[in-house]
Formats: sequence, C-alpha cells, structure tokens
Amino acid sequence: MSSIGVRLVVVYFQIFVVNGKPQVPCYFIFGDSLVDSGNNNQLQTTVKSDYPPYGTDFSEGVTGRFTNGRTVADIIGELLGFDEYIPTYATVTDQHISQGVNYASGGSGIREETGSHMGDRISFDKQLLNHRWIVLRLFELQQNTTYTREHLSKCIYIVNTGSNDYINNYLKPTFYATSHIYTTNGHYAKILLKQYSRQLKVQISIFDLGARKIAVFGLGLIGCSPAEISIFGTEGKPCVDSINKAVKQFNNKIKPVIDELNDHNPDAKFTFINVTNIASQPGAGLTNIPSCILRTDGQCAEMTITSPVRTMSMYFDGYHPIEVVNIHTAKMAYNAVSTMDASPYDISHLVRL
Ligand SMILES: *[C@@H]1O[C@H](CO)[C@@H](O)[C@H](O)[C@H]1NC(C)=O
Ligand SMILES: *[C@@H]1O[C@H](CO)[C@@H](O)[C@H](O)[C@H]1NC(C)=O
Repeated sequence: MSSIGVRLVVVYFQIFVVNGKPQVPCYFIFGDSLVDSGNNNQLQTTVKSDYPPYGTDFSEGVTGRFTNGRTVADIIGELLGFDEYIPTYATVTDQHISQGVNYASGGSGIREETGSHMGDRISFDKQLLNHRWIVLRLFELQQNTTYTREHLSKCIYIVNTGSNDYINNYLKPTFYATSHIYTTNGHYAKILLKQYSRQLKVQISIFDLGARKIAVFGLGLIGCSPAEISIFGTEGKPCVDSINKAVKQFNNKIKPVIDELNDHNPDAKFTFINVTNIASQPGAGLTNIPSCILRTDGQCAEMTITSPVRTMSMYFDGYHPIEVVNIHTAKMAYNAVSTMDASPYDISHLVRL
C-alpha cells in the first residue's frame, strides 16, 4: 500500500471512532457517478466501475464506486457519524432503509435521455420515484405515520447531479439534440435548471414530510477533466474554456433557484455547495493527469496494477476526482470556510436547524 493509502485509512478510522451515534437518523443520496456506490453494477451499461483499479485504496475494494477510495457522499456520511456506508437502492433491505438509501447512478442526469447512448441508468426522476417507494415502505414497516414523518424530516439529503447533462448530452451533438435546440449555453442552463427546480420541489413534496434538509452540489469544472481535454483540446490553455464557460452559466444560476425554493417552502432547507469554489483552493501541486490507463470513453481500462501517479493527481480516471479531492470537498461542504463554499448553510449547520 502506498503511503497515501495508509494515511487515508488512518483518517477513516479516526472519523469512525470519534462519533458514536449519527447526528441525524438518516441520510439519502441522489446523483450520478460522483456519488454512485454500486447501483449500476446490475444495469446494462458501459458506465460501470465494478472492476480494478476502481476501489484500489478502498477498505471494501471494488464496489462500483467510480474512484480509488471513498466518494464525497461516503465521507459526508462519516462526518455525520454513520458507522456504515449508506446501502445502494439496488441492494438495500427493509432492515436498513430507515437509515437512508443511496439512489445515485453513473451516467444519469437531470434530463431523462442523458447518458442513454451508453446504456441503462437511473435518471434523477427515476431516483425520486425510487425514493417514493422507499418512503412508502418505511410507512408500512413503522406503522406510525407521525413517527415516520418526524424521522424523515430530520434526514440529510444530498443531490449531486448535472455533469452528465453536459458531458453525456449537450457536449455530444451526434447523439443528442439539445445543443441543436438550445443553441446558447445560457438557454440550456435555464432549461436544465427549470427541470431541476421542479424535481427538487417534488423531492420535498413527497408525502408532504415537513422540514427537509437538502444540500445541492454545483458542478465541477468539467473542462479541466482529462477526458474532455483529450476530446476537445485546450488550444494551449490548461482547460477547455468553452466547456467551463457553459458550466459556470449553470452554476451561477443555481443559487437563485435555491433561494427561491427556500422562500417558497418555509419548511424546507436547501443549501448550495459550491464545488467550483472548493476545488479552487487546494490543487496546488496536483496535476490533472489521470491515475489509470484510460479507455476511449474516459473510464479506467481494467488492470490490477495501480499507478503511483495517483498521489500527485486530482483525477482517478478521465472524469472522476481521486479520494483526496473528495475528502477536501466533503470537509468543506460539511464545515465551510466561507459562504462561497456553501450557502446559506454548510452541512454541519443544516444538521442543527
Ligand atoms: C407514534 O409516534 C409518535 C411520535 O414519535 C409517538 O408520540 C406516539 O406515541 C406513537 N404512537 C403509537 C401508537 O405508538
Ligand atoms: C462559487 O464559486 C465561484 C468560484 O469561486 C464564484 O465565482 C461564485 O460566485 C460562487 N457562487 C456562489 C453562489 O457563491
């Protein structure tokens, strides 16, 4: 094991030992491959990570997580005091649903068709439908409506999606019509956010559960990912500027959507996690060279030997951050340094509301 692997394992135990009981009774995860922990393993799709070198620095090995170690969702779960990872929707049993479920699916997005050229995926709309089933089942199992409502109102919900609506939709004009229909970045961002806002509203209206604590992650700078750089080129710049411009249009428009959701739903508490700002701080010395040999689709080629480069890179494969970056993002989302990182609340604040 590399020295960084050892260091990460130590952090992992520290977090688990310090906390006894979780700070919230439950934690639900929605999103794409940035937070998927194995929902795609059984799907017909090329977007899978159920083979090495994925999981190479992870205590449980290969699981279907799209990185070498833990995802942002895993680390936030530890910070919340959970002593086990939240199970996937694909494998969760009745016994565990009251603690939360991970619905996230690699390749999925806000739009239904997003990622379809690679095969099956569970879109955000389908994830919301799956959540509805879980909530129904919980009502059935607990046999006390008041209790279940109270229980669910204390949960933390995170949503980390939207990247594929660019990578595997808008930026692939041969497969998807969106860039032909919405010819400016601004127009596309507006259309996406209109749908996203509706979906987030559905999330809080499911069974009218009262106070809800939802952290919505913005998009990272996709134009700096090794895979997009190799597809589009950078004309001598460090990143693909045109893609980052499109992403910023989306990110800049989320905060007003969050503010509006908070204004119109006094029982709900939404917050925006500014991944772009969080990522702008460390990075020093880390390269954007991937840590594995890439397939043409930007995922790691299957191989059991792991690269020593991964101690110096921000990316594990062509798209996904390496665990050290996830640790930083999760810590800042949980305990923000400034309102630029998380606004109006960081997650530790959301817990106490
Ligand atoms: C249902 O749950 C509420 C809230 O926890 C509790 O006060 C009440 O006693 C419970 N009712 C029954 C019948 O157990
Ligand atoms: C998010 O971070 C970016 C980069 O630092 C910044 O330009 C933007 O204003 C931030 N957004 C919010 C809502 O704070």
